[in-house]
Amino acid sequence: MSAEADPTEVGARPVLSVRELYVAYRSRHGRGRARARAVDGVDLDIAPGEIVALVGESGCGKSTLARALTGLVVPTAGRVLHDGVPVSYKSRALKACRRGVQLVLQDPTGALNPRRTVYEAVAEGLRIHGRSALAGFPDERAKVADALSRAGLRPPERFFDLRPHQLSGGQRQRVVIAGALVLDPQVLVADEPVASLDASVRGEILKLMLDLRASAGLSALVVTHDLGLAWNIADRVAVMYLGRIVETGTVEEVLTAPQHPYTRALLSVVAVVAKSGAEPAILTGETPDSAAIPTGCRFHPRCPLVASGEAERLGVAGRCLTVDPEPLPASGRHAACHAARDAARPAAGVP
Ligand SMILES: Nc1ncnc2c1ncn2[C@@H]1O[C@H](COP(=O)(O)OP(=O)(O)OP(=O)(O)O)[C@@H](O)[C@H]1O
Ligand code: SF4
Ligand SMILES: [Mg+2]
Repeated sequence: MSAEADPTEVGARPVLSVRELYVAYRSRHGRGRARARAVDGVDLDIAPGEIVALVGESGCGKSTLARALTGLVVPTAGRVLHDGVPVSYKSRALKACRRGVQLVLQDPTGALNPRRTVYEAVAEGLRIHGRSALAGFPDERAKVADALSRAGLRPPERFFDLRPHQLSGGQRQRVVIAGALVLDPQVLVADEPVASLDASVRGEILKLMLDLRASAGLSALVVTHDLGLAWNIADRVAVMYLGRIVETGTVEEVLTAPQHPYTRALLSVVAVVAKSGAEPAILTGETPDSAAIPTGCRFHPRCPLVASGEAERLGVAGRCLTVDPEPLPASGRHAACHAARDAARPAAGVP
């Protein structure tokens, strides 16, 4: 967890929200007409100054949710709200909201055109949004310099004429982040922002994100496979499985006292828990397929509680196979699991 003082505005209106969000794609695998239900009923709020980590295994829908939040994917159903205002998919309104919520992608090399200078790469956003020198805005140079400086590339003028191959991997990622910052966004949506970087520069980029939150109150959704990264940077964690958020809470709540068997399985393979001597919970069953989401609890074919008979003993096995746990509320501490919900309920007759 971040060691910074908590700058989030408790109770403030979320800067970014989704409500009952669904995104379905035509299946890539030619499975008849089955569609990949990549995001399948998600509610999520991000408060001003809050960093939320979105974790889950490959293919669970993290990037699709991230792209829907930035207006790059049009939902099949449900709403995305920026600062409480529903995103409109008409081009002008969409452009305005995209300015406030900027996507930072995993691979800075792919995100940067090798023929363009750093200056051109960072100024591109201003041009797209009609705020460049060409459009009559006089302060383009100053804005580019400020964005580079905020992204830690100082003195910024020294980087203006360099091209991506003249930069290190960490510097390239800083240029991509500067390209987002130049538009003064409220939120960064960072999809695996350090996955392609050497371990030595990962910490620097994560520290940069924490500094941006501390200095400018920037909020962020950080998509990651890495629970250690979530622990180091986030205030809150949302664990995603087959298109749904199955557990949410503060970083301490979710990572030190997980309630959903899927979160427990993810955690059990992380070194910190393995070192404590806990048995890793190996997930069995087929790799999940978003074009064929199981009935009942979507995790039931792989759930260790079902496989071990514990779900039967707890009296939830029937529901595990037939009742889909409801999507989780947008904030707070929750787990989409019948066993966890029953355990949290006060026993009958107990005051
Ligand atoms: N453009 C697309 N067309 C069809 N199916 C897609 C498309 N993009 C994603 N999918 C499918 O949607 C599901 C979710 O994909 P997504 O990329 O959002 O997952 P992810 O959690 O970001 O995975 P990873 O960790 O590997 O990046 C997957 O089953 C994927 O195959
Ligand atoms: S609802 Fe049942 S199958 Fe799903 S995670 Fe909980 S115990 Fe496992
Ligand atoms: Mg992805």
